[in-house]
Amino acid sequence: MKGVILAGGLGSRLFPLTGVTNKHLLPVWDKPMIYYPIQCLVNAGIEDILLVTGGNSAGDFLKLLGNGKAFGLKHLNYTYQEGEGGIAEALGLAEHWADRESICVVLGDNIIETNIQKAVSDFRASDGGAKIILKEVHDPERFGVAELDGDKVVSIEEKPKAPKSNLAVIGIYMYDGNVFEIIKTLRPSDRGELEITDVNNAYIERGTMSYEVLDGWWTDAGTFESLHRASNMVHEGGANKL
Ligand code: G1P
Repeated sequence: MKGVILAGGLGSRLFPLTGVTNKHLLPVWDKPMIYYPIQCLVNAGIEDILLVTGGNSAGDFLKLLGNGKAFGLKHLNYTYQEGEGGIAEALGLAEHWADRESICVVLGDNIIETNIQKAVSDFRASDGGAKIILKEVHDPERFGVAELDGDKVVSIEEKPKAPKSNLAVIGIYMYDGNVFEIIKTLRPSDRGELEITDVNNAYIERGTMSYEVLDGWWTDAGTFESLHRASNMVHEGGANKL
């Protein structure tokens, strides 16, 4: 299984912090934000990693991360997203590199406390399809929100005004090789982006979506509040044995 980290975008919700640099290079406590998703994949046993970036300071990732020595890696792969086409468009850039293998995708501003190794090995042992990871939150309207029926995910709504549950879909997704065909069928959403939630709903319609509920804390870091919270959580609770 290969790993893909999505670290593009303009980070407009964090302006002016992102005026001259990329959101994922900003500090979260004592490390650049991008360190956490890389460590998350490495801790789960995934060492073949592609970083998709774009926007401001894309070249600085190479300078900071090189071949991934700080994470015990021998090599890191990079690709570049032009413009602001959304998470699913960024993932589409990984098609050639993924070469039909299954992938674990991590959004570059998502930080978790625990190790996702079990979810990854469960997915590896399954028949493919997709797996999402859910976490109970007090502000589900900020995220993709899952509606469950027993052990099935019935639907996911992106930032719903009236959420059907308090289970947010966190930014860690596992997909089989069909994901790139699905991305090619997507149309831009109202915010003009190809949405990862539409990819996930396509798997739900095919009946091949599974889910797990995350242990330990999770936060994104794409707003002033969540960036601040991320630093506090890492400081107080540690993350992913960094
Ligand atoms: C994205 C996804 C959303 C998901 C969130 C997790 O939202 O669209 O479904 O819950 O990441 O961080 P964004 O914050 O990029 O708008």
